[in-house]
Amino acid sequence: MTANLSIPRHIAIVMDGNGRWATRRFLPRVAGHSQGVDALRRCVKTCVDRDVEVLTVFAFSSENWNRPADEVSCLMELLVLALGREVPQLRQDGVRLLFVGERAGLSERVTLGLEQAESLTADNKRLLLNICFNYGGRWDIAQAAAKVAGQGLPVTEKNLGEAMALAHVPDPDLIIRTGGEQRISNFLLWQAAYAELFFSSKLWPEFDEAALDEAIAAYQHRERRFGQTSSQVNGPGINEKTVLPLRQTA
Ligand code: FPP
Repeated sequence: MTANLSIPRHIAIVMDGNGRWATRRFLPRVAGHSQGVDALRRCVKTCVDRDVEVLTVFAFSSENWNRPADEVSCLMELLVLALGREVPQLRQDGVRLLFVGERAGLSERVTLGLEQAESLTADNKRLLLNICFNYGGRWDIAQAAAKVAGQGLPVTEKNLGEAMALAHVPDPDLIIRTGGEQRISNFLLWQAAYAELFFSSKLWPEFDEAALDEAIAAYQHRERRFGQTSSQVNGPGINEKTVLPLRQTA
C-alpha cells in the first residue's frame, strides 16, 4: 500500500461522549456538553492552523429530540449562548459558520441566533464550519429527493447530489467519531460514500489538538482508491507494499 495524502480538505466529526465525560465526574450531562463547546473551539482553531478548508460537526441530530426534555432545552440554550460568546473570535479567525439541517421546529430564539451567526461570518474565507443541527442523513436524502421531484427533474445521482444540504462543499475526506462507538448514526449518509473513517476512544471533551493530528496522520497513511485498483491509483512502477513515512501535519 502506498499513501502520502495531504491534509484533508474536509473533515467531519461526530462529537460523541459528552454525557459519559460528565457522568464519570458525577456532573450533570449538560456539563459535558458545555465542555464539548470548549473542545469544538480547540478543534476549529487546529483546523484553521492546519489549513483544513471545511469542518462539519454533528451538534444535534433529528433523533436527539427524543432525549429528556431538560437536556434538549439545555442544548438549545447552550447553542445560543455559545454563538453569542464565540462569534466575535470566529470572525477574527476567518471562520464562516453555516447551519445545516431542518429549521422548522426550532424556536424563534434559536433560529434568530443561527441566522445572526451566519450573516456576521458570511464574508469569512479561512475555514467553513458547517454545524449540523436538527440534521439527519435520512432527512437530507428525503428533502433532496422531494426538491428534485418538485422541480420535475429526473432522480439522478447528479440531481440528488446538487439538492443535498451539503451541496456547497466537497464530500468529507475524513470522518472522525469520538467516544469509542464505531457507527455513523445517521450522519452524512450520502456524503460518506468515499470518506476515510477514524474512530477515537477519546470522549469528545478530551479530544484535543494532538488527537486531531493523530486522526489526520492516520488519514494521510490511507490509500484512497475510489473503486480503482491500487496500481491504477499509484502507477504501475510502484511497489504496492511500500509505505511512505507520515507527512508532517504541523
Ligand atoms: C453526543 O454526546 C453529543 C451531543 C448530542 C451534542 C454535541 C454537542 C456539543 C459537542 C456541544 C456543541 C453544541 C452546540 C449546541 C454548539 P452524548 O451526549 O451522546 O454523549 P454520551 O454518548 O456519552 O451520552
